[in-house]
Amino acid sequence: MTASLPESPSLETIVNLAKRRGFVFPASEIYGGLRSSWDYGPLGAELLRNIKDEWWYSMVRSRDDVVGLDSAIIQERQVWQASGHEESFSDPLVECSHCNKRHRLDKLKDPNICPDCGSKGTFGEAREFNLMLQTYLGPVADAGALAYLRPETAQGIFINYENVRRTMRLKLPFGIAQVGKSFRNEITPGQFIFRTREFEQMEMEFFCRPAEAQRWHEYWLQERLQWYLDLGMNPDNVRLRPHEPDELAHYAAATSDVDFKYPWGWDELEGIANRTDFDLKAHSELSGQDLRYFDPEANERFYPYVIEPAAGATRAALAFMFDAYHEEEVRGEKRVVMRFHPKLAPIKVAVLPLSKKDELLADTEAVAGALRTRHNIEVDVTQSIGKRYRRQDEIGTPYAVTIDFDTLEDRAVTVRDRDSMEQERVSIDQIAAYLDARLRV
Ligand code: GAP
Repeated sequence: MTASLPESPSLETIVNLAKRRGFVFPASEIYGGLRSSWDYGPLGAELLRNIKDEWWYSMVRSRDDVVGLDSAIIQERQVWQASGHEESFSDPLVECSHCNKRHRLDKLKDPNICPDCGSKGTFGEAREFNLMLQTYLGPVADAGALAYLRPETAQGIFINYENVRRTMRLKLPFGIAQVGKSFRNEITPGQFIFRTREFEQMEMEFFCRPAEAQRWHEYWLQERLQWYLDLGMNPDNVRLRPHEPDELAHYAAATSDVDFKYPWGWDELEGIANRTDFDLKAHSELSGQDLRYFDPEANERFYPYVIEPAAGATRAALAFMFDAYHEEEVRGEKRVVMRFHPKLAPIKVAVLPLSKKDELLADTEAVAGALRTRHNIEVDVTQSIGKRYRRQDEIGTPYAVTIDFDTLEDRAVTVRDRDSMEQERVSIDQIAAYLDARLRV
Protein backbone atom coordinates (compact mmCIF):
# COMPACT_ATOMS: atom_id res chain seq x y z
CA MET A 1 0.00 0.00 0.00
CA THR A 2 2.93 2.34 0.74
CA ALA A 3 5.75 2.87 -1.73
CA SER A 4 8.71 5.10 -1.00
CA LEU A 5 9.56 7.48 -3.82
CA PRO A 6 13.36 7.56 -4.02
CA GLU A 7 13.91 11.14 -5.23
CA SER A 8 15.64 13.38 -2.69
CA PRO A 9 14.09 16.83 -2.56
CA SER A 10 15.28 19.70 -4.70
CA LEU A 11 16.21 23.03 -3.13
CA GLU A 12 13.03 24.49 -4.64
CA THR A 13 10.88 21.82 -2.98
CA ILE A 14 12.26 22.67 0.46
CA VAL A 15 12.07 26.44 -0.08
CA ASN A 16 8.40 26.08 -1.10
CA LEU A 17 7.48 23.79 1.77
CA ALA A 18 9.31 26.05 4.24
CA LYS A 19 7.35 29.08 3.08
CA ARG A 20 3.97 27.37 2.62
CA ARG A 21 4.03 25.72 6.04
CA GLY A 22 5.55 28.56 8.09
CA PHE A 23 9.17 27.44 8.58
CA VAL A 24 11.07 30.19 6.76
CA PHE A 25 9.92 33.36 5.01
CA PRO A 26 11.96 35.70 2.78
CA ALA A 27 13.11 38.64 4.90
CA SER A 28 11.48 41.99 4.05
CA GLU A 29 9.13 40.16 1.71
CA ILE A 30 6.51 42.91 1.55
CA TYR A 31 9.26 45.14 0.10
CA GLY A 32 10.34 42.57 -2.46
CA GLY A 33 12.64 40.48 -0.25
CA LEU A 34 16.30 40.62 0.73
CA ARG A 35 18.20 37.74 -0.84
CA SER A 36 20.73 37.39 1.96
CA SER A 37 18.35 37.23 4.96
CA TRP A 38 15.48 34.98 5.97
CA ASP A 39 12.91 35.10 8.77
CA TYR A 40 12.02 31.99 10.76
CA GLY A 41 8.26 31.48 11.05
CA PRO A 42 6.51 29.75 13.96
CA LEU A 43 7.64 26.26 12.92
CA GLY A 44 11.13 27.30 11.85
CA ALA A 45 11.65 29.10 15.15
CA GLU A 46 10.74 25.87 16.99
CA LEU A 47 13.01 23.75 14.78
CA LEU A 48 15.93 26.16 15.24
CA ARG A 49 15.37 26.34 18.99
CA ASN A 50 15.23 22.53 19.24
CA ILE A 51 18.51 22.22 17.32
CA LYS A 52 20.21 24.76 19.59
CA ASP A 53 18.78 23.15 22.74
CA GLU A 54 19.98 19.70 21.66
CA TRP A 55 23.43 21.09 20.90
CA TRP A 56 23.60 22.91 24.25
CA TYR A 57 22.50 19.80 26.11
CA SER A 58 24.99 17.57 24.33
CA MET A 59 27.93 20.02 24.47
CA VAL A 60 27.40 21.74 27.85
CA ARG A 61 24.79 20.37 30.25
CA SER A 62 25.47 16.67 29.80
CA ARG A 63 29.24 17.17 30.32
CA ASP A 64 31.47 18.01 33.28
CA ASP A 65 34.24 19.53 31.17
CA VAL A 66 32.40 22.22 29.17
CA VAL A 67 30.77 25.46 30.36
CA GLY A 68 28.67 28.02 28.48
CA LEU A 69 29.12 31.69 27.59
CA ASP A 70 27.08 34.44 25.95
CA SER A 71 29.39 37.20 24.81
CA ALA A 72 28.67 40.46 22.96
CA ILE A 73 28.32 40.64 19.18
CA ILE A 74 30.22 43.92 19.03
CA GLN A 75 33.67 43.91 20.60
CA GLU A 76 36.69 46.18 20.63
CA ARG A 77 38.17 46.45 17.09
CA GLN A 78 41.52 45.15 18.35
CA VAL A 79 39.92 41.73 18.90
CA TRP A 80 39.65 41.36 15.11
CA GLN A 81 43.11 42.75 14.58
CA ALA A 82 44.65 40.20 16.96
CA SER A 83 42.60 37.32 15.55
CA GLY A 84 43.76 38.10 12.02
CA HIS A 85 40.25 38.74 10.72
CA GLU A 86 40.85 42.39 9.82
CA GLU A 87 43.80 41.40 7.67
CA SER A 88 42.96 37.93 6.38
CA PHE A 89 39.25 37.14 6.62
CA SER A 90 38.55 37.64 2.96
CA ASP A 91 37.41 35.91 -0.21
CA PRO A 92 38.74 36.51 -3.74
CA LEU A 93 36.27 38.75 -5.60
CA VAL A 94 36.02 39.10 -9.39
CA GLU A 95 33.67 41.31 -11.39
CA CYS A 96 32.43 40.61 -14.90
CA SER A 97 33.16 43.63 -17.15
CA HIS A 98 30.21 42.65 -19.37
CA CYS A 99 27.30 42.29 -16.89
CA ASN A 100 28.99 43.80 -13.78
CA LYS A 101 27.97 40.83 -11.59
CA ARG A 102 30.39 39.95 -8.81
CA HIS A 103 31.50 36.44 -7.92
CA ARG A 104 33.69 34.51 -5.51
CA LEU A 105 36.54 33.27 -7.68
CA ASP A 106 37.11 30.11 -5.61
CA LYS A 107 33.45 29.04 -6.04
CA LEU A 108 33.29 29.38 -9.84
CA LYS A 109 33.00 26.19 -11.89
CA ASP A 110 35.14 27.77 -14.63
CA PRO A 111 37.22 30.77 -13.46
CA ASN A 112 37.12 32.22 -17.01
CA ILE A 113 33.37 32.16 -17.59
CA CYS A 114 30.80 34.44 -15.94
CA PRO A 115 27.97 32.17 -14.66
CA ASP A 116 25.48 35.05 -15.04
CA CYS A 117 25.96 36.15 -18.65
CA GLY A 118 28.21 33.40 -20.02
CA SER A 119 30.94 35.85 -21.18
CA LYS A 120 34.44 34.47 -21.44
CA GLY A 121 37.55 36.24 -20.18
CA THR A 122 35.63 39.24 -18.78
CA PHE A 123 36.93 38.98 -15.22
CA GLY A 124 39.69 41.40 -14.28
CA GLU A 125 42.24 40.78 -11.55
CA ALA A 126 40.76 39.17 -8.40
CA ARG A 127 40.88 41.32 -5.28
CA GLU A 128 40.62 40.18 -1.67
CA PHE A 129 37.28 41.29 -0.21
CA ASN A 130 37.04 41.41 3.61
CA LEU A 131 33.90 39.64 4.85
CA MET A 132 33.38 41.50 8.12
CA LEU A 133 30.30 43.73 8.31
CA GLN A 134 31.21 47.20 9.51
CA THR A 135 29.35 49.66 11.66
CA TYR A 136 30.15 52.84 13.58
CA LEU A 137 29.62 53.21 17.29
CA GLY A 138 28.22 56.51 18.54
CA PRO A 139 27.11 59.61 16.69
CA VAL A 140 30.18 60.26 14.52
CA ALA A 141 30.98 57.83 11.73
CA ASP A 142 34.74 58.32 11.64
CA ALA A 143 37.63 55.85 11.62
CA GLY A 144 37.90 55.90 15.42
CA ALA A 145 34.30 54.69 15.75
CA LEU A 146 34.68 51.77 13.32
CA ALA A 147 33.51 48.43 14.73
CA TYR A 148 32.61 45.05 13.30
CA LEU A 149 29.71 42.67 13.80
CA ARG A 150 31.37 39.42 14.83
CA PRO A 151 32.01 36.99 11.94
CA GLU A 152 32.36 34.07 14.39
CA THR A 153 31.33 33.58 18.01
CA ALA A 154 34.73 32.02 18.80
CA GLN A 155 36.63 35.25 19.54
CA GLY A 156 34.20 36.13 22.36
CA ILE A 157 35.33 32.88 23.96
CA PHE A 158 39.07 33.51 23.55
CA ILE A 159 38.92 36.99 25.04
CA ASN A 160 36.96 35.63 28.03
CA TYR A 161 39.15 32.55 28.43
CA GLU A 162 40.85 33.79 31.60
CA ASN A 163 37.61 35.17 33.17
CA VAL A 164 35.89 31.84 32.65
CA ARG A 165 38.84 29.68 33.69
CA ARG A 166 39.34 31.66 36.91
CA THR A 167 35.71 32.04 37.99
CA MET A 168 34.82 28.41 37.26
CA ARG A 169 38.17 27.08 38.63
CA LEU A 170 38.74 25.02 35.49
CA LYS A 171 41.66 22.72 34.82
CA LEU A 172 42.77 21.48 31.39
CA PRO A 173 41.25 20.00 29.39
CA PHE A 174 38.03 22.05 29.33
CA GLY A 175 35.73 23.68 26.84
CA ILE A 176 33.74 26.92 26.55
CA ALA A 177 30.65 26.84 24.36
CA GLN A 178 28.54 29.58 22.84
CA VAL A 179 25.51 29.87 20.57
CA GLY A 180 24.65 33.08 18.78
CA LYS A 181 24.41 35.23 15.72
CA SER A 182 27.34 35.88 13.44
CA PHE A 183 27.56 38.11 10.38
CA ARG A 184 29.54 37.92 7.16
CA ASN A 185 29.30 40.17 4.15
CA GLU A 186 29.25 37.15 1.83
CA ILE A 187 29.94 38.00 -1.83
CA THR A 188 27.42 35.43 -3.03
CA PRO A 189 24.87 34.52 -0.36
CA GLY A 190 22.57 31.83 -1.64
CA GLN A 191 21.10 28.37 -1.63
CA PHE A 192 18.36 29.57 0.72
CA ILE A 193 19.57 29.55 4.35
CA PHE A 194 22.81 27.71 3.49
CA ARG A 195 24.87 30.87 3.04
CA THR A 196 23.45 34.09 4.45
CA ARG A 197 24.92 37.34 5.72
CA GLU A 198 23.30 36.92 9.13
CA PHE A 199 23.27 33.41 10.60
CA GLU A 200 23.55 31.51 13.84
CA GLN A 201 26.53 29.50 15.02
CA MET A 202 27.04 26.89 17.73
CA GLU A 203 30.73 26.85 18.62
CA MET A 204 32.85 25.28 21.33
CA GLU A 205 36.51 25.94 22.03
CA PHE A 206 38.11 22.98 23.78
CA PHE A 207 41.38 23.93 25.51
CA CYS A 208 43.91 21.13 26.01
CA ARG A 209 47.61 20.36 26.37
CA PRO A 210 49.42 20.71 23.02
CA ALA A 211 50.59 17.09 23.13
CA GLU A 212 46.98 15.91 23.47
CA ALA A 213 45.51 18.12 20.74
CA GLN A 214 45.50 15.53 17.99
CA ARG A 215 43.79 12.94 20.16
CA TRP A 216 41.10 15.46 21.17
CA HIS A 217 40.66 16.49 17.55
CA GLU A 218 39.89 12.88 16.62
CA TYR A 219 37.58 12.56 19.63
CA TRP A 220 35.54 15.65 18.66
CA LEU A 221 35.28 14.58 15.03
CA GLN A 222 33.54 11.38 16.10
CA GLU A 223 31.39 13.11 18.75
CA ARG A 224 30.10 15.67 16.33
CA LEU A 225 29.36 13.21 13.55
CA GLN A 226 27.51 11.03 16.07
CA TRP A 227 25.39 14.01 17.20
CA TYR A 228 23.82 14.30 13.74
CA LEU A 229 23.29 10.54 13.54
CA ASP A 230 21.69 10.44 17.02
CA LEU A 231 19.24 13.08 15.81
CA GLY A 232 18.15 10.76 13.05
CA MET A 233 20.26 11.92 10.12
CA ASN A 234 20.59 9.29 7.42
CA PRO A 235 24.22 7.97 7.58
CA ASP A 236 24.31 8.09 3.75
CA ASN A 237 23.83 11.87 3.90
CA VAL A 238 26.71 12.81 6.26
CA ARG A 239 30.45 12.23 6.16
CA LEU A 240 33.71 13.56 7.58
CA ARG A 241 36.09 15.17 5.10
CA PRO A 242 39.61 16.39 5.95
CA HIS A 243 40.58 19.77 4.43
CA GLU A 244 43.29 20.02 1.80
CA PRO A 245 46.20 22.20 3.01
CA ASP A 246 45.17 25.07 0.67
CA GLU A 247 41.63 25.16 2.16
CA LEU A 248 42.72 25.76 5.75
CA ALA A 249 41.69 28.97 7.50
CA HIS A 250 44.49 31.31 8.54
CA TYR A 251 44.38 30.01 12.14
CA ALA A 252 44.06 26.25 11.57
CA ALA A 253 46.71 23.50 11.57
CA ALA A 254 44.15 20.86 10.55
CA THR A 255 40.41 20.87 9.90
CA SER A 256 37.84 18.29 8.97
CA ASP A 257 34.31 19.14 7.94
CA VAL A 258 31.11 17.33 8.66
CA ASP A 259 29.69 17.39 5.14
CA PHE A 260 26.06 16.92 4.19
CA LYS A 261 24.74 15.68 0.85
CA TYR A 262 22.76 18.72 -0.36
CA PRO A 263 20.92 18.69 -3.71
CA TRP A 264 23.96 20.47 -5.22
CA GLY A 265 26.38 17.83 -3.85
CA TRP A 266 28.49 17.30 -0.72
CA ASP A 267 29.10 20.58 1.10
CA GLU A 268 30.00 21.85 4.56
CA LEU A 269 27.68 21.53 7.53
CA GLU A 270 30.22 21.98 10.34
CA GLY A 271 33.98 22.53 10.61
CA ILE A 272 36.13 20.94 13.33
CA ALA A 273 39.52 22.65 13.51
CA ASN A 274 42.72 22.37 15.44
CA ARG A 275 43.36 26.10 16.03
CA THR A 276 46.59 25.36 17.93
CA ASP A 277 47.56 28.22 20.29
CA PHE A 278 47.03 30.81 17.56
CA ASP A 279 44.27 32.83 19.22
CA LEU A 280 45.35 32.88 22.87
CA LYS A 281 48.89 33.79 21.81
CA ALA A 282 47.68 36.55 19.49
CA HIS A 283 45.42 38.08 22.16
CA SER A 284 48.20 37.87 24.75
CA GLU A 285 50.56 39.69 22.43
CA LEU A 286 48.18 42.51 21.48
CA SER A 287 46.46 43.00 24.85
CA GLY A 288 49.58 42.55 26.99
CA GLN A 289 47.66 40.11 29.25
CA ASP A 290 49.35 36.80 29.88
CA LEU A 291 46.84 34.16 28.80
CA ARG A 292 49.15 31.21 29.38
CA TYR A 293 47.94 28.36 31.56
CA PHE A 294 49.87 27.61 34.72
CA ASP A 295 50.29 23.95 35.51
CA PRO A 296 51.18 23.73 39.23
CA GLU A 297 52.24 20.08 39.05
CA ALA A 298 54.78 20.58 36.30
CA ASN A 299 55.39 24.17 37.49
CA GLU A 300 55.22 25.49 33.92
CA ARG A 301 53.30 28.02 31.88
CA PHE A 302 52.15 27.36 28.34
CA TYR A 303 49.48 28.30 25.81
CA PRO A 304 46.82 25.59 25.58
CA TYR A 305 45.90 24.26 22.14
CA VAL A 306 42.32 24.56 20.99
CA ILE A 307 40.06 22.09 19.21
CA GLU A 308 37.00 23.84 17.81
CA PRO A 309 33.80 22.15 16.65
CA ALA A 310 32.04 25.03 14.82
CA ALA A 311 28.53 24.33 13.55
CA GLY A 312 25.91 26.51 11.89
CA ALA A 313 22.51 26.33 13.62
CA THR A 314 20.68 27.80 10.64
CA ARG A 315 22.63 25.61 8.21
CA ALA A 316 21.82 22.57 10.37
CA ALA A 317 18.11 23.50 10.16
CA LEU A 318 18.41 23.32 6.37
CA ALA A 319 20.26 19.98 6.44
CA PHE A 320 17.71 18.48 8.84
CA MET A 321 14.89 19.67 6.55
CA PHE A 322 16.47 18.04 3.49
CA ASP A 323 17.16 14.87 5.44
CA ALA A 324 13.65 14.66 6.90
CA TYR A 325 11.80 15.14 3.61
CA HIS A 326 10.19 12.00 2.20
CA GLU A 327 7.63 11.40 -0.49
CA GLU A 328 5.60 8.22 -0.53
CA GLU A 329 2.74 6.80 -2.45
CA VAL A 330 -0.11 5.71 -0.18
CA ARG A 331 -3.08 4.02 -1.83
CA GLY A 332 -2.26 5.73 -5.12
CA GLU A 333 -1.81 9.19 -3.55
CA LYS A 334 1.36 11.12 -2.86
CA ARG A 335 2.15 11.69 0.81
CA VAL A 336 4.83 14.20 1.85
CA VAL A 337 6.21 13.51 5.30
CA MET A 338 8.96 15.24 7.22
CA ARG A 339 10.48 12.47 9.32
CA PHE A 340 12.05 14.79 11.91
CA HIS A 341 13.47 13.12 15.00
CA PRO A 342 10.89 13.72 17.79
CA LYS A 343 13.41 15.92 19.61
CA LEU A 344 13.61 18.24 16.59
CA ALA A 345 9.99 18.16 15.41
CA PRO A 346 8.48 21.65 15.83
CA ILE A 347 5.17 20.21 17.06
CA LYS A 348 5.19 16.93 18.93
CA VAL A 349 1.48 16.12 19.09
CA ALA A 350 -1.52 17.30 17.07
CA VAL A 351 -4.85 17.14 18.89
CA LEU A 352 -7.65 16.75 16.36
CA PRO A 353 -11.37 16.54 17.20
CA LEU A 354 -13.28 14.77 14.46
CA SER A 355 -15.97 17.44 14.53
CA LYS A 356 -16.56 20.85 16.06
CA LYS A 357 -19.46 19.58 18.19
CA ASP A 358 -19.36 20.93 21.73
CA GLU A 359 -19.08 17.55 23.46
CA LEU A 360 -16.00 16.66 21.35
CA LEU A 361 -14.46 20.06 21.99
CA ALA A 362 -14.78 19.56 25.75
CA ASP A 363 -12.81 16.30 25.55
CA THR A 364 -10.35 17.93 23.13
CA GLU A 365 -9.61 20.63 25.67
CA ALA A 366 -9.21 18.04 28.43
CA VAL A 367 -6.69 16.03 26.34
CA ALA A 368 -4.88 19.18 25.15
CA GLY A 369 -4.70 20.46 28.73
CA ALA A 370 -3.07 17.25 29.92
CA LEU A 371 -0.47 17.36 27.11
CA ARG A 372 0.25 21.07 26.81
CA THR A 373 2.45 21.33 29.89
CA ARG A 374 4.60 18.41 28.74
CA HIS A 375 5.02 18.88 24.97
CA ASN A 376 4.61 21.48 22.26
CA ILE A 377 1.18 20.59 20.89
CA GLU A 378 -1.21 22.03 18.33
CA VAL A 379 -5.00 21.81 18.44
CA ASP A 380 -6.44 21.88 14.92
CA VAL A 381 -10.20 21.93 14.34
CA THR A 382 -10.32 23.13 10.72
CA GLN A 383 -10.81 21.08 7.51
CA SER A 384 -11.35 17.36 6.99
CA ILE A 385 -9.39 14.90 9.12
CA GLY A 386 -7.53 13.70 6.00
CA LYS A 387 -6.31 17.22 5.21
CA ARG A 388 -5.31 17.76 8.82
CA TYR A 389 -3.24 14.54 8.84
CA ARG A 390 -1.57 15.63 5.59
CA ARG A 391 -0.62 18.98 7.09
CA GLN A 392 0.78 17.37 10.24
CA ASP A 393 2.79 14.88 8.12
CA GLU A 394 4.20 17.73 6.09
CA ILE A 395 5.37 19.64 9.17
CA GLY A 396 6.73 16.47 10.76
CA THR A 397 4.47 16.05 13.80
CA PRO A 398 5.28 12.57 15.21
CA TYR A 399 1.82 11.87 16.74
CA ALA A 400 -1.77 12.88 16.08
CA VAL A 401 -4.45 12.27 18.70
CA THR A 402 -8.02 12.13 17.36
CA ILE A 403 -11.07 12.64 19.54
CA ASP A 404 -14.11 11.02 17.91
CA PHE A 405 -17.69 10.10 18.83
CA ASP A 406 -16.57 6.79 20.35
CA THR A 407 -14.50 8.84 22.81
CA LEU A 408 -17.75 9.94 24.45
CA GLU A 409 -18.49 6.27 25.21
CA ASP A 410 -15.14 4.54 25.77
CA ARG A 411 -13.11 7.54 27.15
CA ALA A 412 -10.33 6.68 24.70
CA VAL A 413 -8.69 8.45 21.73
CA THR A 414 -6.96 7.28 18.54
CA VAL A 415 -3.21 7.89 18.32
CA ARG A 416 -1.74 7.93 14.81
CA ASP A 417 1.97 7.38 14.28
CA ARG A 418 3.39 9.73 11.61
CA ASP A 419 5.85 7.23 10.13
CA SER A 420 3.94 3.95 10.14
CA MET A 421 0.50 5.63 9.95
CA GLU A 422 -0.65 2.90 12.33
CA GLN A 423 -3.44 3.82 14.72
CA GLU A 424 -3.89 2.72 18.29
CA ARG A 425 -6.70 3.28 20.76
CA VAL A 426 -5.43 4.71 24.07
CA SER A 427 -7.54 5.65 27.07
CA ILE A 428 -7.58 9.35 27.96
CA ASP A 429 -6.15 8.73 31.41
CA GLN A 430 -3.14 6.95 29.84
CA ILE A 431 -2.50 9.34 26.96
CA ALA A 432 0.10 11.55 28.69
CA ALA A 433 2.18 8.56 29.85
CA TYR A 434 1.82 6.88 26.42
CA LEU A 435 3.19 9.93 24.60
CA ASP A 436 5.87 10.67 27.21
CA ALA A 437 7.30 7.19 26.71
CA ARG A 438 7.52 7.74 22.96
CA LEU A 439 8.58 11.39 22.83
CA ARG A 440 11.08 11.60 25.67
CA VAL A 441 13.54 9.32 23.90
N1 GAP B 1 34.96 29.75 14.31
C1 GAP B 1 35.19 28.97 13.13
C2 GAP B 1 34.26 29.26 12.07
O1 GAP B 1 33.50 30.23 12.13
P1 GAP B 1 33.47 28.44 9.72
O2 GAP B 1 33.73 27.13 9.03
O3 GAP B 1 33.77 29.69 8.96
O4 GAP B 1 34.32 28.37 11.06
C3 GAP B 1 31.45 27.45 11.02
O5 GAP B 1 31.96 28.48 10.23
C4 GAP B 1 30.07 27.06 10.55
O6 GAP B 1 29.23 28.21 10.54
C5 GAP B 1 30.01 26.53 9.11
O7 GAP B 1 30.31 25.15 9.07
C6 GAP B 1 28.56 26.79 8.75
O8 GAP B 1 27.73 25.78 9.29
C7 GAP B 1 28.28 28.09 9.48
N2 GAP B 1 28.41 29.23 8.56
C8 GAP B 1 29.54 29.87 8.20
N3 GAP B 1 29.27 30.87 7.33
C9 GAP B 1 27.93 30.85 7.14
C10 GAP B 1 27.03 31.64 6.35
N4 GAP B 1 27.44 32.67 5.61
N5 GAP B 1 25.70 31.33 6.40
C11 GAP B 1 25.24 30.30 7.15
N6 GAP B 1 26.05 29.53 7.92
C12 GAP B 1 27.37 29.80 7.92
